[in-house]
Amino acid sequence: MYFEKSKGFPQDFLWGSASAAYQVEGGWDADGKGVSNWDKFVRIPGKTFKATTGDKAVDHYHRYKEDVKLMAEMGLKTYRFSIAWTRIYPNGNGEVNEAGLQFYDNLINELLKYGIEPMVTVYHWDMPQALEDQYHGWESRQIVDDYVNYAKTLFERYGDRVKYWITMNEQNIFTSFGWLKGMHPPGKENDMKTFYQVNHHANMAHAKTVLALKEMYPDAKVGASFAYSPCYAYDRKPENAMAKADYDDLQNYWWMDVYAYGRYPRSAWAYLESQGVTPQMEDGDEDILKKAAALVDFMGVNYYQTCVAEYNDINGVGMTNTMNNTGEKGTAQVQGVPGLYKNPANDFLPTTDWDWTIDPMGIRMCCRDITSRYDLPVVISENGLGAFDKVEDGQVHDPYRIAYLKAHIEELKKAIDDGCRVLAYCTWSYTDLLSWLNGYQKRYGFVYVDREEDENSGTLNRIPKDSYYWYKKVIETNGEEL
Ligand code: BG6
Repeated sequence: MYFEKSKGFPQDFLWGSASAAYQVEGGWDADGKGVSNWDKFVRIPGKTFKATTGDKAVDHYHRYKEDVKLMAEMGLKTYRFSIAWTRIYPNGNGEVNEAGLQFYDNLINELLKYGIEPMVTVYHWDMPQALEDQYHGWESRQIVDDYVNYAKTLFERYGDRVKYWITMNEQNIFTSFGWLKGMHPPGKENDMKTFYQVNHHANMAHAKTVLALKEMYPDAKVGASFAYSPCYAYDRKPENAMAKADYDDLQNYWWMDVYAYGRYPRSAWAYLESQGVTPQMEDGDEDILKKAAALVDFMGVNYYQTCVAEYNDINGVGMTNTMNNTGEKGTAQVQGVPGLYKNPANDFLPTTDWDWTIDPMGIRMCCRDITSRYDLPVVISENGLGAFDKVEDGQVHDPYRIAYLKAHIEELKKAIDDGCRVLAYCTWSYTDLLSWLNGYQKRYGFVYVDREEDENSGTLNRIPKDSYYWYKKVIETNGEEL
């Protein structure tokens, strides 16, 4: 038989949950940590919801033992977290900060103590500000060497204990928000040319990091996490089907083809040429991208929502920097690329208070597409619901989150039954945390954290929500009881 068809979730399935350094740690200048681009960006008036910062976040830096203990009591199999580059190299390069290395040593050892598999993201958006000051960060090819040097330091220090590595979190999001929408650092808008150049640098950093890891630890498992929004054609009109094809090539395959095949999709490249925005590549780059792609073990997928593609007239809507960051339903706006596609709302699907569509079948779609196109295993590295939660009599009842996760896990099981190899499912997020642009009121966690937008609010105490106990059961029954 060509492959062993699995029945339900495999016995070694990694039930997990995820976070990112900037969103949970706090301790923004503790123990020699350097300043990151986000430490700086959040201080620009108007950039984040009610001027929230990650200065204190949910204080995971000081409370990681309490958080890990709760994970252990829940039975979590894997915890995905990211490392803050600025704790390891406060200036991005140069001298290493032993106290920073020690923090993650402690965290990893604490997880292993309870048999929780650490899954480490090398880069989840918080770049050393010093590199921005030295050479404009991702805009310069110089970042590739600094990134690989940083990653190798992590592999040297933790490679004996960490088996799962994610090189990069949502390259498509941090680059489009950073250079097209002006909503992430460095806050540039509509700079297509730089956007594609930055992405090429990030691709080279990813690829060289994969090669370095496999040289040091050939058995390690590695991939990148991609924010994957599968796309439906608006209707059966051929021009809308073509809009979907354009969307897929430019918004999905542009990244995933590089991770999996080591090359850019041809039609997207042709479009970039027509616009004069192709990235500059160096001799040998293609070879490196291909070698790394051959060594990648899985596609990391952060799945939240699907979208719709409809043909967009040459005079139609462009990229906007307006989003619903307040939780006031119905305030998001249609965006698009003139001459190609736009992304109207999908009337068939409900939405969250932040106007994200809720579409459980989309997670199955992600797995199916990755399986058919790349034949790679999938790690769901994020999936979850951002919602307003309330404490009532010391408890948090979040049936909406349970319903959301249940429906997604059911579809994930179908994907496995379809023959997709799914290695892990990490919810977003473990504790409540800072939602980059949406403050602390948009909560995702299994564990409620007592704090609000104001930096001095709350006790930071942890309260497991109803979903915490529900997921504990899911893990215990390996997904049989949902
Ligand atoms: C992903 C990121 O984009 O989605 C996370 O990897 C982020 O860091 C999550 O928090 C949810 O997005 P948001 O904007 O609701 O916080």
